[in-house]
Amino acid sequence: MSRGREQWGSKFGFIMAAAGSAVGLGNIWRFPYLTGVSGGGIFVVLYLILVAAIGMPIMLAEMAIGRGGGLNAVGSFRKLKGGLWPMVGWAGVVAGFVILSFYGVVAGWTVAYMFKSFGPLMSMAAAGGAAEAFQTFTNDYVQVIAYQGAFMLATIWIVYNGVGGGIERYCKVMMPSLYIILAILMVRSLTLEGAMKGVEFYLKPDISKLTARTVMGALGQAFFSLSIGMGCMITYGSYLSDRESLPSSVFIVTVMNVAVAILVGFVIFPAVFAFNMEPSSGPGLIFVTLPAVFARMPMGSLFSFLFFTLLFFAAVTSSVSLLEVCVAYMKDEFRWDRGRAAWIIGLACFLLGIPSALSLGDHFPRVFGMDFLGAMDFLSSNVLLPLGGIFISVFAGWSWFEGARQEVRRGGALPKPLETFWVLACRILAPIAVAWVFVGNFR
Ligand code: PFF
Repeated sequence: MSRGREQWGSKFGFIMAAAGSAVGLGNIWRFPYLTGVSGGGIFVVLYLILVAAIGMPIMLAEMAIGRGGGLNAVGSFRKLKGGLWPMVGWAGVVAGFVILSFYGVVAGWTVAYMFKSFGPLMSMAAAGGAAEAFQTFTNDYVQVIAYQGAFMLATIWIVYNGVGGGIERYCKVMMPSLYIILAILMVRSLTLEGAMKGVEFYLKPDISKLTARTVMGALGQAFFSLSIGMGCMITYGSYLSDRESLPSSVFIVTVMNVAVAILVGFVIFPAVFAFNMEPSSGPGLIFVTLPAVFARMPMGSLFSFLFFTLLFFAAVTSSVSLLEVCVAYMKDEFRWDRGRAAWIIGLACFLLGIPSALSLGDHFPRVFGMDFLGAMDFLSSNVLLPLGGIFISVFAGWSWFEGARQEVRRGGALPKPLETFWVLACRILAPIAVAWVFVGNFR
């Protein structure tokens, strides 16, 4: 490892930070709306299978590359192998930058809705005007950009404070709080009259809804929600000591991540069905449908505030990981100091995010038939992350195989059958499956 490099203070801190990165808007905003539009239970089952069969092996490969290389995503590839491999890391840094630009926008809506929970939003939503309220909000450019800016400032501040003093410190508080809020909301939702119809929609897989599209959606979601395919886990792994076991870290982080996605479904669908709303309303699900649901509950403002606070915690512990990928790159490769890197890249991300922030307004031009935010999401989640995933698994499974295997065994090995599965997944399963999905996206 390079001298004087920052490190996590404890394994607990690392797990909270890595789980904080994984658990985010992807679990609470994207997962429920994708489940809603993809027919419920069947999407959930596919997601779980893909997380276990492809997601976990790639996450293990990433952490091994990061700890083995001891540098940022680009530097680790260069140090371990060189050649063209650093380009994989470089694509990851670009992906991090692009994701953070629109992530800050959606997270900004979340901050706005925390405050709006106590404003006229609830009475508008009670009168059937939640969609209109959301539209008015996204057309108010000053507000949208101000909230995006505020969220980006919080992200920059945490990253500026460093790996231990910033990221780890905040994740250690926010992640446990998130589970507590989630538990409170779940009890509330499941005890509503008519909740069981939602549980049924959510848990009963309807095999007739299984299409190639559903599989692709579920794989993209597995990548996005596990924070894999762009060197985030490489960067976080590079701050981890040799004493810790990588497989057990991957296992805990994945379980924590999947738990949030699954439990959030138990908050959203029972409530949506109890109040006869539509589960398949798309990206607006939580900003349009949920306020309408909260507005009709006793103490709805409070539950709405709790929900959007939960989402804010989840979002900021992920956005810091996106920024850290870029900051680590500038620090290691160009000797920038942390503060300078955090501020300059954070501000640049904010500026790139402005078209996304404006794009949900009524007058903003569309790109390739999508709104700008949707186009950025597509470019990163459906193009850059899967491509990154293919190369990362090929790197660990073939090019740097012996090194990767040693690194995975250091600090606590996998049982033999699981190790064999990991090797097979990196060598064959992941590259082929992901390539298939990747090509399918463009059909
Ligand atoms: N996993 C995050 C989420 O589910 O919201 C998003 C994300 C963070 C993707 C970090 C990629 C990444 F490197």
